[in-house]
Amino acid sequence: MVDTRRLEQLLRDRRPASTAPSQAARVADAQGFRVRAAVRSRAGQSDAVRAAWAALPELDTEPGRTGSTAGAMAAASGNLRQFDESFDLLRAQLLQALRTRGWQSIGITAPVRGCGASFVSLSLARSFARLDNVRTALLDLDLEAGALADSLGTAPDGHISDLIAGDLAPAEYLCRAGRNLALGLTAPFPEGAATLFHNDALTQTLAEITTEYRPDVILCDLPPLLTEDSTLAALPSLDAVLIVADGTRTQARDLSECERLLQDRTQLLGVVLNRGVDTAAARRAHH
Ligand SMILES: Nc1ncnc2c1ncn2[C@@H]1O[C@H](COP(=O)(O)OP(=O)(O)OP(=O)(O)O)[C@@H](O)[C@H]1O
Ligand SMILES: [Mg+2]
Repeated sequence: MVDTRRLEQLLRDRRPASTAPSQAARVADAQGFRVRAAVRSRAGQSDAVRAAWAALPELDTEPGRTGSTAGAMAAASGNLRQFDESFDLLRAQLLQALRTRGWQSIGITAPVRGCGASFVSLSLARSFARLDNVRTALLDLDLEAGALADSLGTAPDGHISDLIAGDLAPAEYLCRAGRNLALGLTAPFPEGAATLFHNDALTQTLAEITTEYRPDVILCDLPPLLTEDSTLAALPSLDAVLIVADGTRTQARDLSECERLLQDRTQLLGVVLNRGVDTAAARRAHH
């Protein structure tokens, strides 16, 4: 199960209400930038945004496989409602943090592979998508090992590196699940694609998505922090990061090392405890 207590604590401990604009907004404001920054009336703009969402192709999935990972997890955990509720709580905390701080792009990473960063990314995106009035984008930025598409029961042949490099526009690459969740999935790319993060291509891509689709939040599923250099390179493009700790093996020193690596690159939004000990189950097992 996901334990959001530490996140809650971190959010409470941190000073609220920095009104710094999001990375994407800062870049979109800058001159000489490739975003087609059209000046439109507010009404015209929201019509255009609605039309842009409607025009995104719906995700093509194998029937019955959609959401296989999170769905299977929830079923395995035996309590779908409790599962959804814990992610809805995390979502509420995130939304509040995003709104008070003017943030938008959130990276989700972990110390090492297998801790559940993609699982949390997808579950959180599904939770955001349950809100009618919130627009969410979920990008698979694990360029070399992206697995979100597989979890969603689809097999894209495109590489998100084409979107990040600017070779494809968001409208040519993204797809849509439901009305308000945009997905940037990827087929795993051969080694080397991660060098893309070493310039500001990702920042520009996020700004383009923001201009066209006005998402309230962009969730970015990242590779792990301690073992993949590409993660470090992506961080400066993101407003903040969530770290997923695996309750069965992540050590305090791993988290300290992650926090050290985040310094001067982006903000730490909180730590989500995945596979935390279910105390009730542990007690039952003990007796
Ligand atoms: N809370 C959980 N309960 C049961 N299974 C889980 C849980 N969290 C993750 N898993 C499963 O563990 C495996 C690894 O999770 P996931 O792919 O999300 O990790 P990751 O941190 O994204 O790893 P990688 O860096 O390799 O992408 C997946 O099969 C996932 O479905
Ligand atoms: Mg992953």
